[in-house]
Amino acid sequence: MKIILRHKALFVIVSITLSLIVACEKKYFVKPPGPKVAVQTTALEATYVSTAPLTLSDSYWKNADYLKVSVGNLNKNALYSNGYLNMTGTYGGTSSFNAGGDPKLTMKAAYDDSKLYIYVEWVDNNLDATNALATLLGASDPLKSDTTGQWTSQGNSDKMAIAFDLNNSSSSEGTFVDKGCAASCHQGKMQPAAGSVDIWSWDVATTDALGYAADMVTDANKGLVKDTGNAMVTSNKKVPGNPRSQPAYEWSGVDQSFTRPDGKTTLLDAGYYLLNTTATTNITPFIGDYHKGDLVYHNSVYGCGHCHGDEGGGDGPSGSATPFAAVGFAKKYSRASLISFASSGNHEGNTYWSQVPAASVNDLIAYIKGLGGVPGVLLSPPSGSHADVWSVSNVTRSRINVTPHTLYQVILVRKLNTGNADDVQFTTPEGKSYPFGIALMNADGKNHIGSLKQMLTFKLK
Ligand code: HEC
Repeated sequence: MKIILRHKALFVIVSITLSLIVACEKKYFVKPPGPKVAVQTTALEATYVSTAPLTLSDSYWKNADYLKVSVGNLNKNALYSNGYLNMTGTYGGTSSFNAGGDPKLTMKAAYDDSKLYIYVEWVDNNLDATNALATLLGASDPLKSDTTGQWTSQGNSDKMAIAFDLNNSSSSEGTFVDKGCAASCHQGKMQPAAGSVDIWSWDVATTDALGYAADMVTDANKGLVKDTGNAMVTSNKKVPGNPRSQPAYEWSGVDQSFTRPDGKTTLLDAGYYLLNTTATTNITPFIGDYHKGDLVYHNSVYGCGHCHGDEGGGDGPSGSATPFAAVGFAKKYSRASLISFASSGNHEGNTYWSQVPAASVNDLIAYIKGLGGVPGVLLSPPSGSHADVWSVSNVTRSRINVTPHTLYQVILVRKLNTGNADDVQFTTPEGKSYPFGIALMNADGKNHIGSLKQMLTFKLK
């Protein structure tokens, strides 16, 4: 009985205390705000932050307000010149991009005392990371009648570009302030009739690998050119500018390690990227006469085609073997490692290999590498004003995985004020707005979809 009473007393005391606390809370404490909920906005609103949101996993991006950009056709039905094939995946505009599916283009932004951060996300159902791959006997292009015998430049990469008015640009369509990007389009080219436009051009096969978007400029006189500084992309064709030229360089077999401007080091997949820096030896001249290699490959006694297929497809009269005609084959084998595998006991065709005359080995490898394709461009660290825009993305560059791709996530980072004449400046931007345009390209560099004009607004601190 006593015990029960005591319990009751305790219960009463606890209840009174609790109700007092609750009462106190009601009276004296204001309910703390819940976590910020992301809100859709009509402009791209950059919020002031004190910590740079430099990674995709940064909590800022999780609940930052966002702009949904509905996309339309910006340019369509354009083709490349003879010898460039399968490079226009956005040929029909919105009906080609994702086969007509909405890319769900979404943007977020932030700024701190020194930099602007723009987050861009869009759905692209297939990751295209080749750019004018030098290919022997490559695929024909359903949109073109070019012949495909011998070398062609095959495939184009996915791209995204943002444009800002730099200097009162205009075209027959109007001014940038009124019409956005339409001001930079003139006679079918990215070129205003007057003034100039700042363009940040992100490319999965080139700029993103190094951690940048290419900082470029277009004006009435010169058209679209890179900003001043060392180029990050150069042709890897023996005859630069000729899409039917053989490659100039191939991967040497040395791992392609590169430190990006955000300080992170990345390995670059040699099937898709060729790194050309003064400090490393990742590339070596492409040697051998592929014409002669063709004859060795098809030799009636020891030709590789017996098992690897007539044109490297992987099925021959004497058996089936790994297809050589596959993009990315180049990443597995440098010349030295190809020789060492083909001559080893692990290779079913090693008795064929052992009959190949030593003097023909390089010719044969030139042919085999050509079937798989050699990256069409070389990548070098950019410098100067060309290197102003950094990129952080969700692309796994060490091993390009084409199949499970759905979404691109990219953060572009730029100083508010670069001090360079070929850049738009956001000096003391607080409270100001800037018109911009945005374009997406799926395996293309000419046709694009996107939005001509959106507004970037720097919110008050
Ligand atoms: C008798 C059939 C046959 C012939 C002929 C043949 N191979 Fe192979 N090769 C294979 C098979 C099967 C494989 C798959 C790996 C294995 O089991 O050996 C292969 C794999 C390879 C690979 C590795 C490919 C990869 O992606 O891993 C190379 C390189 C190669 N062969 C080179 C050659 C060369 C060069 C010749 C011509 C001199 C040649 N092979 C002739 C059957 C053959």
